Amino acid sequence: MRTPEVRDYVVDKLDRILNPKSVAVIGASREKGKIGHSVVDNLKGEFPGEVYPINPNAERILGFKAYSTVNEVPDPVDLAIVVVPAKIVPSVIDDCVEKDVGGIVIITSGFSEVGNEELEDRIVKKCREAKIPMIGPNVVGVVSTFNNLNASFIGEPPIPGKISLVTQSGALGIALSSWTRMKQIGLSSLESIGNMADVGFNEVIKYLAEQDDNTEVIALYLEGLKAGREFVEICKEASKNTPIVTLKAGRSQRGKAATQSHTGSLAGSMEIYKAGFRQSGVIQVADLEALFNISLALAHQPPMKGDNVLVITNGGGAGILSSDAAEKYGIPLRETPQDLKKKMRDYMPDFGSAHNPVDITGQAREENYKGAIRDALNSPNVDGVAVLWCHTAFTDAKELAKMIYEATEEAEGSNKPVAVTFIGGESAEEGTTWLKKKGIPAYDTPEKTMAALGALRDYGRFLERK
Ligand code: ACO
Repeated sequence: MRTPEVRDYVVDKLDRILNPKSVAVIGASREKGKIGHSVVDNLKGEFPGEVYPINPNAERILGFKAYSTVNEVPDPVDLAIVVVPAKIVPSVIDDCVEKDVGGIVIITSGFSEVGNEELEDRIVKKCREAKIPMIGPNVVGVVSTFNNLNASFIGEPPIPGKISLVTQSGALGIALSSWTRMKQIGLSSLESIGNMADVGFNEVIKYLAEQDDNTEVIALYLEGLKAGREFVEICKEASKNTPIVTLKAGRSQRGKAATQSHTGSLAGSMEIYKAGFRQSGVIQVADLEALFNISLALAHQPPMKGDNVLVITNGGGAGILSSDAAEKYGIPLRETPQDLKKKMRDYMPDFGSAHNPVDITGQAREENYKGAIRDALNSPNVDGVAVLWCHTAFTDAKELAKMIYEATEEAEGSNKPVAVTFIGGESAEEGTTWLKKKGIPAYDTPEKTMAALGALRDYGRFLERK
């Protein structure tokens, strides 16, 4: 069915989907192991709103009173989650229309992704006539961490944070929820939009950028767009306040064919997508890890105003790798500014190097890093700092993490981005986790750190052009 232009009622009512006071689960199951059971289970406990399981064959489900149809619920229903088999979906949509629910999310599969366009079009028509936004079908559901809403069958919900993940792939939504949790990367919300039969990327992006105070960065897993020109316009506007990072899937010939059967999307020409992303300030990344690594940096660090990055390292090799990566990500590593060279000498032995990358050597202690980072950030000729650390026997990752944080606090007025690499084992990982919790993006390779700073520079450039 044709995708209409962005509709105001959809953007407004998305708030009832992501910030609901009441949720009905239509197809709530009594049987553990069924999707309709997990969704109710996920709404038990922390979600502060009302939960209404809908099942004509049940009295109670997981302690909640069950209703035969959504119409029997005595109070208004903000969000209706649909988990009945495809052939029953049209009739439950009729009930939702009669009840005038705020929004609908259809988890059920078996629509355009398997060639069943006719059934999909029928339900879309019903929703559009009633002006009720519909997300799906063929999705895992929606999550909003700030509302303790897990209206999905995701087992391990994400931890709260500033990134909103909008994904066409539901399974990736499930997996990335656990992965981001393990990596201590917080999400504000997760929208699985599947077949995008009614609501697509454009309206969700507009809502998140304009109406959701918890979202600082929008991360997209995108297979294909239904309204490409409008996407460019929406993103151009949204990106002024909320950076958008995209992983475009279906880049190869086989990948393109796979998107068609996965969510019924047309992958399209990569060149056209690239041009559109460039025009609209959308930052394109190559893989899933980069999607979150880059989003993490954009969520917590200021855009970089120039491209003078100073690298501070205790290892020459790590410094060289960062130089190679800098070039790849569009950062021309320049010589250390004169005003800084002398200051940097205070933090290194005679055999260190004040050239960029500044090598404070393997005998550098935590406080040497602190001083060097603080001075670099305070220099008017530095726009951003990359900190690299290779685990040495006499430095402690956690202690160093604290020193890095303190240095950024002491140079707070500088408003310049910092990104960190800790190369080592478990304690290095603990150090990066600690830094991430403090809002400092920290990674395990110089390449990832430079990619993050490159993206902060790209976003800075986009804002300057605007
Ligand atoms: N209204 C409300 N509930 C009803 C109705 C009705 N009109 N009719 C039946 N029900 C109840 C059933 O009695 C059942 O409850 P029970 O188990 O207590 O008896 C419940 O609804 C579910 O119905 P089932 O027929 O048991 O359906 P089932 O749970 O097996 O499957 C489902 C439904 C999950 C929607 C399935 O059809 C489906 O689409 N699965 C795929 C979902 C999916 O993967 N989505 C994409 C995610 S993205 C990814 O890639 C992971």
